[in-house]
Amino acid sequence: MKRLIYLFILSLFCGNLLAQESPIFIETNNTALVYKTDRQNKLMQVYFGEKLNDADEYSNLFSQNEAYMPAGMDNLYEPAIRLLHNDGNPSLSLKFEGVEVSRVDENVSVTQITLKDDVYPVEVKLFFKAFKNEDVIEAWTEIQHNEKKPVMLTHFASSMLQFDKRDYWLTQFHGDWAKEMLMQESQLTSGIKVIDSKLGTRANKFQAPMFFLSMNEPSTETKGEVVAATLAWTGNFQFNFEITPTNTLRVISGMNPYASEYHLKPNEIFKTPDFIFTYSFEGKGQASRNLHKWAQKYQVLDGEGERLTLLNNWEATYFDFNEDRLVELFDGAKKLGVDLFLLDDGWFANKYPRNNDRAGLGDWQENKEKLPHGIGYLVEQAEAKGIKFGIWIEPEMVNPKSELYENHPDWILKLPNRPEHYSRNQLVLDMANPEVQKFVYDVVDQMLTKHPEIGFIKWDCNREMTNEYSQYLGENQSHIYIDYVKGFYNVMEDLREKYPELPIMLCSGGGGRTDYGAMKYFTEFWPSDNTDAYDRIFIQWAYSYFFPANTICNHITSMGNQSLKFRTDVAMMDKMGYDIRVEEFTDEELAFSQQALKDYDRLKDVIWFGDMYRLISPYEESRAALMYVHESKEKAVFFCFDIYTYRENITNPVKFQGLDPDKKYEVKEINVQEGRRRGPFMGPNAGDSVYSGDYLMKIGYNVRGGREDLSSHVYEITEVN
Ligand code: GLA
Repeated sequence: MKRLIYLFILSLFCGNLLAQESPIFIETNNTALVYKTDRQNKLMQVYFGEKLNDADEYSNLFSQNEAYMPAGMDNLYEPAIRLLHNDGNPSLSLKFEGVEVSRVDENVSVTQITLKDDVYPVEVKLFFKAFKNEDVIEAWTEIQHNEKKPVMLTHFASSMLQFDKRDYWLTQFHGDWAKEMLMQESQLTSGIKVIDSKLGTRANKFQAPMFFLSMNEPSTETKGEVVAATLAWTGNFQFNFEITPTNTLRVISGMNPYASEYHLKPNEIFKTPDFIFTYSFEGKGQASRNLHKWAQKYQVLDGEGERLTLLNNWEATYFDFNEDRLVELFDGAKKLGVDLFLLDDGWFANKYPRNNDRAGLGDWQENKEKLPHGIGYLVEQAEAKGIKFGIWIEPEMVNPKSELYENHPDWILKLPNRPEHYSRNQLVLDMANPEVQKFVYDVVDQMLTKHPEIGFIKWDCNREMTNEYSQYLGENQSHIYIDYVKGFYNVMEDLREKYPELPIMLCSGGGGRTDYGAMKYFTEFWPSDNTDAYDRIFIQWAYSYFFPANTICNHITSMGNQSLKFRTDVAMMDKMGYDIRVEEFTDEELAFSQQALKDYDRLKDVIWFGDMYRLISPYEESRAALMYVHESKEKAVFFCFDIYTYRENITNPVKFQGLDPDKKYEVKEINVQEGRRRGPFMGPNAGDSVYSGDYLMKIGYNVRGGREDLSSHVYEITEVN
């Protein structure tokens, strides 16, 4: 061991001199990613998996897997990087140059491995930020050169990982508008499987930028070796899974190279987005908990902070409202007991009023007819009723019927010599253009300067790019996909400098923007425009694999035919809110909802920050069950949803997880509607009672009880002495 440390420290100074001798370790509590150099001084990935007890033993490992495979030399597979030099030469040969490790704190360290071409002045730095306790690693790359003129980069992966297992099982998530995050699992076969998006303004919609990769056999929630991974990038992404003839799996992840050749100027640094991954040896549940903890502590804006409950008016009014109607709705918010009223689309534009989605987008002045006294009046009225006020914007987009379109045609992405192509009757602004970035910044800044009391923003982005052409980028049209996202981040960076704490919900026609690149600037996201509680179980279930509960906004609406209780129980799974006509509630429904909000307030710390255990998947049974356990193990909340009660009769108890076997717990049903019977009525337990954690985890709890189709139950579990 001593020898290894000595060689490692020496290598910091002598770089390639000792390159072959000293492995480079990127370690977390349970995993190790290990690199070595070969005889030609190329960097090889020799190991990625469960950490060995004795680090000396890594030196037994040998591999033929080049760590970050460049194109143009001896590579026969998909490359991690490819570029064309000034002289037109398309090859790159990367040799190990040195390694530096910096410790950020007890938990976090950054390893930087420098590779250099031995003929051309090109340097590639691989970065690995390891989060020890969370077992998460972020990987990114920086590419730089010193040639006379720009080089053309055609491939620029954030990470390349390699696995040598018998079989590989991929879980991916696909969908469309209102059908986000449908899960599919399949065995990878030889050749290449690509998951990608070419949507430009967002990553998610058809394919989500995240996956599970199970080794040898499909993993379950509690068993199996599995990597969970995602890319922190709000634009085109690509995950490339290639099985070679020797059955090695190479996973190349990063921005999508599609139509994105990048002309990199001398000495400019091309930094790729972070590829985030965790390796669990106890199934998908542990992988999710790792990501939840990491995200709340290190990535999501104010990830460990408070969140506001709210009443949104979108599904309650759509575009049809005026000042008086809104003030009436504030009463509903107040009566319910939420923290904030969120005014959605339709409040702006005068020359082309925003009374439907065909006009007004881009003209961010209050519509004088609907809001004669402006936003200020609404803020005052809300405050007078004891609630906060929040507002919807979609500042990256424009309707052709708008003053913005008339005044700034050069700010819009559209081909000069072809018909405009609309989606939701709108076009995309050119965020690569700094003037447009300033406009977008000003939309928000001016509103917040005028109305500093605004307590929340919902930031929407309702279309993807098509027929795009940037009048700003000139000859560099192939930069648009990348520079658009960078422009968006520039704006968010500046806004967050001035408004570091304001909660902002990320939305993109529902769940189009659900990625950790954007979540650095946002407190939460809107997972889907589909708020039917039945469909939501599946959508929220899938997001829970990668995102913590306090980032996933679930609103109780009138969509779907389920009981208010069922809709409330489903929304309570994560960050609960409302988008409904409260004045149409019966007294019983209002009382139920008020109580639900009080219970939620009491239990939100457990739901948001507790450890999540998915117990029964709706993909496997006609019910779904999950629980959150507070880290003290003194409190937990358990949710169970029956789906298709009449079609399948499942009565076996649900086994809990995460409790302390030696503690005694009271299990008490909450969210019970007045006059309705409580569950369960049969099985090893009936009614509220006290059990040991041991009993609840080995025998379980019977939750069958509702007689209606789609019944649901929520239980509060409390340690008793
Ligand atoms: C998108 C959002 C909705 C709503 C509408 C308003 O579809 O996802 O929640 O805000 O825009 O136009």
